[in-house]
Amino acid sequence: MWLRDISITNFRKFSEFRTELSESVNIILGPNASGKTTLIEAIQYFSTFSPIKPFDMDKDLIKFGESFSIIKSHVIDDKGYENELVVSLQLDQVIKKKVKLNQENSSFQKISSLLKTVTFLVEDFYIVIGSPSYRRKILDNLVISIYPEMLGTKIQYKKLVKQKNQLIKKIIDSKSTEDIDLIKAYNAKISELAYKIFQKRVEATKFISQFLKERLGNVSVKYKTNIYDALKDNYHSVESIRNLLDSNIEKELKLGKSLYGIHLDDMVIISDEFKNEARLFLSQGQIRIISILVKLGIASFIEGKTGKKCILLIDDILGELDEANKKSILKELLSTGNQTVFAFFSDDYLKLFESNYKVIKI
Ligand SMILES: Nc1ncnc2c1ncn2[C@@H]1O[C@H](COP(=O)(O)OP(=O)(O)OP(=O)(O)O)[C@@H](O)[C@H]1O
Ligand SMILES: [Mg+2]
Repeated sequence: MWLRDISITNFRKFSEFRTELSESVNIILGPNASGKTTLIEAIQYFSTFSPIKPFDMDKDLIKFGESFSIIKSHVIDDKGYENELVVSLQLDQVIKKKVKLNQENSSFQKISSLLKTVTFLVEDFYIVIGSPSYRRKILDNLVISIYPEMLGTKIQYKKLVKQKNQLIKKIIDSKSTEDIDLIKAYNAKISELAYKIFQKRVEATKFISQFLKERLGNVSVKYKTNIYDALKDNYHSVESIRNLLDSNIEKELKLGKSLYGIHLDDMVIISDEFKNEARLFLSQGQIRIISILVKLGIASFIEGKTGKKCILLIDDILGELDEANKKSILKELLSTGNQTVFAFFSDDYLKLFESNYKVIKI
């Protein structure tokens, strides 16, 4: 799928804005605060239905002082047919979001399964240097975009761990061991869900690791889990996770919380050269390259699994790279042949592109 155009009304700084898009390379050019990230955000909203920045809310997308926002696009599907996609946000007491496909009400889940985007942002270096929870979020969003049912699994897992922690506190406060069997019941369900999430995360991590290795040679990604560390080679069954959880009940009661589980896992980027985490040894430019390639690996994984080409939205991320790296990363990004939207504040970047691109000046 690709977007033939995009029109926005009352979206962030724009009252009205419309532009045609090319099926291949698009380059948005404009100074700071002209609305480049906003356009990228509007396009990605069609597939994620949430703002780019994790702490922004839907209501922040509506132009300040207005009560509604509309994003519209003509989407060309894989068979070459044109579809009209309209997303509207209405601010009453709460925000109401609606999506229409060819004038008929549709669901966010349906559209997300048809239209895939991958966004490349300046803050992507957090993939390398950020917290485990940041990487877990990236990994889980990827898993959910391929296996939507995993959203429910993840929500249920989180809820059960929370309830188990409450129960642990209750047992400690009451000094009664009556509820220990209930902890075991929680462990049984938690280990089932943990195993499902674990398998999908490991599958994605292995793919991204291979993707990086093929391009950089000495960088890989390791799925880090305290379940694995505790079980060594014996981690690959629900039963073994359950036994691990059960055998640590006493320890958990001493420390007052769940100690093992996939809610503590991480996807660590490793420098094979230094045999340590990349964040500790690599330069800013190297970290930038890795974070771009992780995102590109994510796009490639989504395509392989779903057969859908991802629209690549690339927001001014080449700044830290020298000319040679700019060229090689750009070549890598362009080699997908996917619809791509770049944003730059300077037209200096145009010389890096060969031909066949559409410039959108704002
Ligand atoms: N809800 C909103 N209503 C009105 N204006 C907004 C809203 N949200 C953001 N803005 C403004 O929109 C402007 C454009 O922001 P945007 O991030 O798209 O710029 P940009 O072109 O990407 O700039 P930069 O080159 O600095 O990254 C900013 O000045 C911002 O304050
Ligand atoms: Mg910007």
